[in-house]
Amino acid sequence: MTHLNVNVKDLGVHFKGRYRLFKFKERGDGVWALKSLSFSLANGEGSKGTTLSVVGESGSGKTTLLRALLGLVPPTTGDVELWGNSVRAMTDEQRLAARRRCGYVPQDPYSSLPPTLTVLSAVLEPWSVVRGRRGGEGEKGLAKAKELLAELKLPEELWNARVRYSLSGGQRQRVAVARALILEPELLLCDEPTAMQDVSTRGEVLEVLSRRVAAGMSMILVTHDLLLARYASTRGVVLYKGEIVESGDTAELLERPSHSYTRALLAALPRLG
Ligand SMILES: Nc1ncnc2c1ncn2[C@@H]1O[C@H](COP(=O)(O)OP(=O)(O)OP(=O)(O)O)[C@@H](O)[C@H]1O
Ligand SMILES: [Mg+2]
Repeated sequence: MTHLNVNVKDLGVHFKGRYRLFKFKERGDGVWALKSLSFSLANGEGSKGTTLSVVGESGSGKTTLLRALLGLVPPTTGDVELWGNSVRAMTDEQRLAARRRCGYVPQDPYSSLPPTLTVLSAVLEPWSVVRGRRGGEGEKGLAKAKELLAELKLPEELWNARVRYSLSGGQRQRVAVARALILEPELLLCDEPTAMQDVSTRGEVLEVLSRRVAAGMSMILVTHDLLLARYASTRGVVLYKGEIVESGDTAELLERPSHSYTRALLAALPRLG
């Protein structure tokens, strides 16, 4: 039996123009960041999770989609269901409960982490908020944070450094991944989680994520990289200007891209030789 995690129905998100230059001259009509999106994500075979890739160029609406799934941006049209509950109809309590089943790796780990936090406390923070920091729980959390940082290959001499000042972009991103994983989410929403990694650390991060998926976590992976989508997932959707222009098997998307935008994405891939 498959258990439906995420069900997106006709989701549209409209942002109003941010500035009004003159009283009598409103700034445009705003922008539809997402237009009538529908897809769903169920658990995988047996006890495995599934990964869905969301691919698209800059400004196509990928981050907005993740934020809408997390309830950080209200839908203008349509709805999102998480584990059968509509985000529109959820009470605050239900929203919090759903939110706790989700992990989020934001696109910009620099702005999302408080400046004074050290690596260990940044990873521990969600645990402390939800499970507490005293006694046995505190010790368990600390052990788990260390385990995750080691698994993500963050050098131990950095564990007490300040995230904001002493880490490289790629290291900071791995801290963000550890922070998102510490509460063992059922669903992980990742926004370009490997964009700042080099080839070897990128493989390590992906391995950590795929181990979780094999153990039952589902994941939505946002990336602009079709090859990464192909490597990390079997299903993908291609976003273009807020709309899904193509969806299906990622291998097929690469081999037989039907939409002109997917073909353009592929043609833009750098090739050696
Ligand atoms: N808070 C906001 N207010 C107004 N417009 C917004 C807001 N957030 C996003 N947008 C607009 O919505 C569209 C989609 O933005 P989004 O950040 O989702 O794109 P993206 O696919 O994540 O791009 P990138 O790959 O560069 O991260 C853009 O046109 C953007 O300008
Ligand atoms: Mg984005």
